[in-house]
Amino acid sequence: MTINNKNRRQFLQHTAVGLAAAAFPGLALANKGQFKSHATRGFNPDVEMEITARQGYVPVLRGGPHTKVQKYYSKLLKGPKDTLQHLKSNYLGPIINYEKGQKVRIYFNNALSEPSIIHWHGLHVPQKSDGHPMYTIQPGEQFVYEFEVMNRAGTSFYHSHTHELTAEQVYKGLAGIITVTDDEEKKLDLPRGEYDIPFVLQDRIFNNRNQLQYLRGMHGRMSGFLGDTILVNGKPNVEFTVKSRAYRFRALNGSNSRIYKLGWGDGTPLTAIGTDAGLLEKPETRPYIMLAPGERIDLWLDFSGRSVGEKLVMYSLPYTGAMPPMIDRRKKSKGGSSRGMGDSMMGGMGMMGSGLAQGAKFPIASFKVTETVSDSPRLPKHLVNFERLSESDADNAHHPLPIAISMKPMRPMLNGKSYSIDRVFDFERVSLGSVKKIKIFHDHGMKKGEHGKDKGMAGGMMGGGMMMSMAHPIHLHGQQYQIISRKPGGMRLDEYATVKDGFIDSGWKDTVLVMPGEEIEIIKPFQDYKGFFLYHCHNLEHEDLGMMRQFYIY
Ligand code: C2O
Ligand code: CU
Ligand code: CU
Repeated sequence: MTINNKNRRQFLQHTAVGLAAAAFPGLALANKGQFKSHATRGFNPDVEMEITARQGYVPVLRGGPHTKVQKYYSKLLKGPKDTLQHLKSNYLGPIINYEKGQKVRIYFNNALSEPSIIHWHGLHVPQKSDGHPMYTIQPGEQFVYEFEVMNRAGTSFYHSHTHELTAEQVYKGLAGIITVTDDEEKKLDLPRGEYDIPFVLQDRIFNNRNQLQYLRGMHGRMSGFLGDTILVNGKPNVEFTVKSRAYRFRALNGSNSRIYKLGWGDGTPLTAIGTDAGLLEKPETRPYIMLAPGERIDLWLDFSGRSVGEKLVMYSLPYTGAMPPMIDRRKKSKGGSSRGMGDSMMGGMGMMGSGLAQGAKFPIASFKVTETVSDSPRLPKHLVNFERLSESDADNAHHPLPIAISMKPMRPMLNGKSYSIDRVFDFERVSLGSVKKIKIFHDHGMKKGEHGKDKGMAGGMMGGGMMMSMAHPIHLHGQQYQIISRKPGGMRLDEYATVKDGFIDSGWKDTVLVMPGEEIEIIKPFQDYKGFFLYHCHNLEHEDLGMMRQFYIY
């Protein structure tokens, strides 16, 4: 039920040897032009493109003025024509379609009036092409990315990674979806072309002039931005017209902090064929699927047997326990136990307007069957093979690297520290080629019994300890990892029961939702590239508040 003291001791042990953090003073010079980049001679790209981040105006809502956004505009210079798929009248960047093995060069131009940099979330690329904050460029500058697509077939995510501006820039539109295909995938009879559809989920708040409203002030940042308008692929109230056959929907949670619990309105279970950046070994069918910011789920949506005119609605189903107990408590004291659309628990958190509560039930999109066909592929029993990593692959099975989650007022932290660009703990130095066990857990510095029934508000709104414990999607840059265990703890069982069947932990992952009190162990290879690779909370408000650190691979 309470914080695992063994974890804490373990973390302290690590820090005792590792607190003498190595400093890399050179990195503090970032943004001063040291890291300008240019195309490398001898690197012959198969795919070459130009991406420009610029302010623009797009019709997001129906009617009324266009919405001011920040957007990735793009142009293909070389490579297969379908590499870039532009979404019309949309703030989202183009869908980028890669093939494993392609060499890619991207000229990124910053035509904004503020610094920026792009990160290819999910792609395993060299430090220099990973969008580390040291490479942030100023208005008018250009950054050149070069990498080979080493990933297997799957779905990834690109977005701004401009430290302290990430949340706001992603919110304003600097994001897009990436697909990778490979020979293994091509052998499978998966839905392709018009039956392979992106499903980017985001939430926003618009004012009455159709303009985006972001958080003002600090309070909302601690819980994260929650909007009241749900956008799918950049549009509200989306209805997909489908045929009576199977589709692949690549769900990507591109929201700043909203966690979705995907499920059909009529209780039909959901089938997944892929997780972050990779296909599963075999499909998994669940009553609902949790999707936290940064995570992807490739869904197999089968409308076979449905008749013309049938309409299905995908919801985010209700759940509880992801937010700090003090917020839920506050909400209850306001008398509302319903978690419906009108819930505005964030009102008390200093957020303007009324966002939909985290865990509220709301419709995401509807699907209308408009044609019956009989050419549907069948769900494969087996998808792809991959090596299953276990503890015995790691060289530190008994001394896992810690990722300790904690929150102090206005300071969500990892391993007891906030991000600093030029700092790495000794235990964050990892040798190239090694495979590590990493333990992600909550460390709120609580002693047993402190989580007393009515003690919660004693520390005030932003008091420490368990009252601050909330769900965090933890993302690691670089190579994908595998989850070997997930142990609940610290959440009421009835609340945990509202989420526990929705975690698909069997595939390759780069982001994992850690519920309050949970302890998750992962195995991660650190191969191919040396350098600095970030790990952070993908609640983008938390990330910008410094809930981010880095590994140094040497
Ligand atoms: Cu999707 Cu470091 O982020
Ligand atoms: Cu990433
Ligand atoms: Cu977080």
